[in-house]
Amino acid sequence: MYLTDQEKAILDGAQGKAPQLAMEILAKIGEINEADRLIPISSVHLVLHAYKSAFDAGVDTAEKIAEMGGQFIVPTTIDPYGMDAEDWKGARTPDHYAAQQIRLENAVMKMGVVPVWTCTPYYGFNLPRFGDNVAWSESSAVAYANTVIGARTNRQTAIVDICCGILGKTPETGLHLQQNRYGEVLVRLKADRELKSWEYPALGYLLGKKLGSRIGVVEGMKGDPRHEDLKSLCAAAAASGSVTLLHIVGVTPEARNLQEAFGGNKPLEESEVTLKDLQDTRDAMCTTKDDKVDFVALGCPHYTINEIKQVHNLLKGRKINPGTSFWIYANSYAIKLAEKMGLRRDLEEAGVVIRAETCMIISPVASWGFKTLMTDSGKCSYYGPAECGTDIIFASVEECVEAAVLGRLPK
Ligand code: F3S
Repeated sequence: MYLTDQEKAILDGAQGKAPQLAMEILAKIGEINEADRLIPISSVHLVLHAYKSAFDAGVDTAEKIAEMGGQFIVPTTIDPYGMDAEDWKGARTPDHYAAQQIRLENAVMKMGVVPVWTCTPYYGFNLPRFGDNVAWSESSAVAYANTVIGARTNRQTAIVDICCGILGKTPETGLHLQQNRYGEVLVRLKADRELKSWEYPALGYLLGKKLGSRIGVVEGMKGDPRHEDLKSLCAAAAASGSVTLLHIVGVTPEARNLQEAFGGNKPLEESEVTLKDLQDTRDAMCTTKDDKVDFVALGCPHYTINEIKQVHNLLKGRKINPGTSFWIYANSYAIKLAEKMGLRRDLEEAGVVIRAETCMIISPVASWGFKTLMTDSGKCSYYGPAECGTDIIFASVEECVEAAVLGRLPK
C-alpha cells in the first residue's frame, strides 16, 4: 500500500508511539485488504465501549493506547455504556464489572472521545454528509450510515476504530470504493400498502438471513418510512446477517432507481418478499408460546424522543403490571428531553424504568433471571437469548405496552 512521506514518518515514530502503532495496524490491514492508500475520514464511531464485550484485554489495550499518548484527531463518538449510567447499582451491576467499565471509560475519555454513549450517533452528535468517508464500528449505525445517509464506511472493529480516530484515516477498501457499492441481489417487496412499524425490523431480520454480507436492493417499498423505522430495519439486517449497505429504492440516496442501485449490472439473484413472509419471520423470531411476559425491553437501537413519547401515549395513564419489568433504553439527550417534556415523570410513575446510555444486550441483564423478554426490536430478538438468557417475543410496540400492562400477551 502506498504511504505518503508524512505517513512513513508516522510509521517511523515521528509523532510518537500511539500514532506509530495506529499506522502499523492500519498499514497492515490495508495490505491484507489490498488497499492502494489511506484516505481521510470525517468521523469515527467506536465499539470499545462496554466491559461486557471488551473484557479485561480490551480495557488493558485501551489504557495502553491512552498511556502511549493516543489522541483522536477527528470527531470520535462511542457506543452505549456497559451499564446504566445513572444507576448501575440499581441495575444490579457487579462491583468488579462496574470498576472495569469505569477504567474503560477513563481510557477513552483520555483519548478525547465524545462521550455520547449511544448506538445512534447519527441523531446529531456525529452526522456525516452524503458521500463522506467515515470509520464506524457499530453494525446498526454502519448500515444506517451507508443505507440512509449515503456516507461510506466499512464495519470497523474495536481497536482498529481507535487507530482510525488517532490518524483521521482509514484504508481505502470495501464500501469506500464506488465499484463495491452497487447492488448484488434484487428483493422485490410485494406489499400493496405501507409497512406497519413492526414489519420494518421483521423485513430487516429476513433480509439479513437472505443476504448475509451481500448488498441487497429492495424494490417496492411504499410510502415514506420514518427514520425510526429505517433505524430498526438496518439494525435487524446487520444483526441476523452482516448487512452493511442496503439500497432501498427511493430511500437510499444513491438508489433513486434500479439502474442507479445496480450501476448497470445485472442482479446475481432475485427474490420476493410478501407480507406473509414478514408474518412468518415474526413467528420465527419468537422462541416461546408462553403468554407470560416478565420483561419488556425497548430501545434497541436507542429509542428516540418520538418513540418515548409514543410509549407514553400508548400507556394512556395505565400502570405497568407489578410482575413485569418494563425498561426503555435511550441516550442521555433523549432522556433529557423526556424530562423536560414531563414524560419521564409520568412513565416512572406508571412503573417504567428508563435505563440511561446502555442497553439490554451490552449490560449484565442475565443476573435478573428474566424468563421472557418481549421487544419491538429485531436486533434485540436476535441477540436476546444468548445475551439476556431469556426467551423472546417479538411484537409491535403497541403489543409490548399492552403486555406490560397485563403481565401477559393480550388475547
Ligand atoms: Fe444499540 Fe445495544 Fe441494540 S448497542 S443497536 S441498543 S444491541
